[in-house]
Formats: sequence, structure tokens, C-alpha cells
Amino acid sequence: MQYKIAPSILAADWLNLGYEVERLNASDCDYIHYDVMDGKFVPEMSFGVTCMRPVRKNTEKKMDVHLMIEDPVRNVRSFAESGADLITFHIEAAGEKTEETIDYIRSFGVIPGLSIKPATPAEALFPYLDKLGMVLVMSVEPGFGGQAFMPEALEKIRILREEIDRRGLSVDIEVDGGINLKTALLCKEAGANVFVSGSALFRGDLVENVRAMRTLL
Ligand code: DX5
Ligand code: ZN
Repeated sequence: MQYKIAPSILAADWLNLGYEVERLNASDCDYIHYDVMDGKFVPEMSFGVTCMRPVRKNTEKKMDVHLMIEDPVRNVRSFAESGADLITFHIEAAGEKTEETIDYIRSFGVIPGLSIKPATPAEALFPYLDKLGMVLVMSVEPGFGGQAFMPEALEKIRILREEIDRRGLSVDIEVDGGINLKTALLCKEAGANVFVSGSALFRGDLVENVRAMRTLL
């Protein structure tokens, strides 16, 4: 199993973004997780392609875009053309356009991911597993960094890992929200292999924090 670490740039010091990107580059992380919020699907707004482009230009790390927006298909093209490597959207936001959105993401050569909020059962992802590169299990209510991990996510990870393995697929299972060394280990044991972490990695020495998480995985 390949384990991946995805620091969430939402927790970065945005007044010193150049320094933050340097820290990310110096670290052993795999992805930069980029949280896009529209103030509708989730209460807050964050940032869009305008802020992603300078980050993209200054890193070799893969950009892992997490769209927490309504009708996500509308924004796929601009993120794909701005250098996203993975684009994950919410099944609750795409509804009947879910399959179309997955196909559209693929048409740009970008890896499609599909996410579920805490109230959505893991089984909701089953019809799409064959088309996906990644599933994202939210372990907090999406919209804010710094929340406490919801242990209910572990059972969903287990259900997804079992189904993905049963079908012989190589879909990554990403977990996002309240991930620190302790909760990352629980999620790894449940079957997750991509770990998003904001506050726990950006607080203090990012390079050292990523190293500590890597040692654990
Ligand atoms: C929450 C975001 C997360 C968030 C994680 O809506 O999707 O990516 O930044 O932050 P922490 O690790 O602080 O919970
Ligand atoms: Zn996220």
C-alpha cells in the first residue's frame, strides 16, 4: 500500500504564502490539499483558481483540489487548466450530475475523487468506485479547519476498503478532518491511505511534522 500525506493549505499562514510553499516543498509530503469553499455548500468561502496558480507555479508537489462547492462540474475546467492533479467533489453537491462530473474531470487527464460528508453512508460511493481514482471520507463536517475527528469515519473507511479490495480496484481512500498522528494511525488501520491534515501539520515545524507522520505510516 502506498501511503500519501496531504497537508491542507487552508491552515497555512496566508500572509506568508511563499514561505509556506517553501516549507511544503522542503517536506516529504505527496500532495498539497487545496480546500475550495463557496459559501453555499459550506458556510464559509475560501479561495479559487487565482490563489492556486501561484502555488502551482512554485511547487512540483501534486495539487489535490477538494471542491466543497455546489454544482461542481461548472468549475472543473478552470481548476484542471490551472494545474490540478486531482479534483475531488462532493456527491451531495453533484447529485444526478455525479457521473458526468467524474467523466468530465477525467477528460482533462485529471484524477477524479468523490467525497462524502459525515451524514452520507459509505455505500453511496459504491456505484462510482470503478470510475474513481480516489474516495474522500470526511471525518469532520466540511467547512472549517481545526475541528475534532469524528470516529464514525472509521467504519466508513473499513466498508470502503473491503469493497475496493473485493472488486480488485486500486482506488485510494483519503481521510480529511481532525487528522493528527493518533487519528492518522486509526484511519490507516481502518484502511485509509491518503491523509489530509491542516492544523496538526502547519502548527510548528511542518517538515518535522510530516516526517513524524511518515514514520508512523
Ligand atoms: C475541512 C477541510 C479540511 C481542513 C482540515 O472542510 O476539508 O481539509 O483543512 O483541517 P484540519 O486538519 O485542521 O482538521
Ligand atoms: Zn479538505
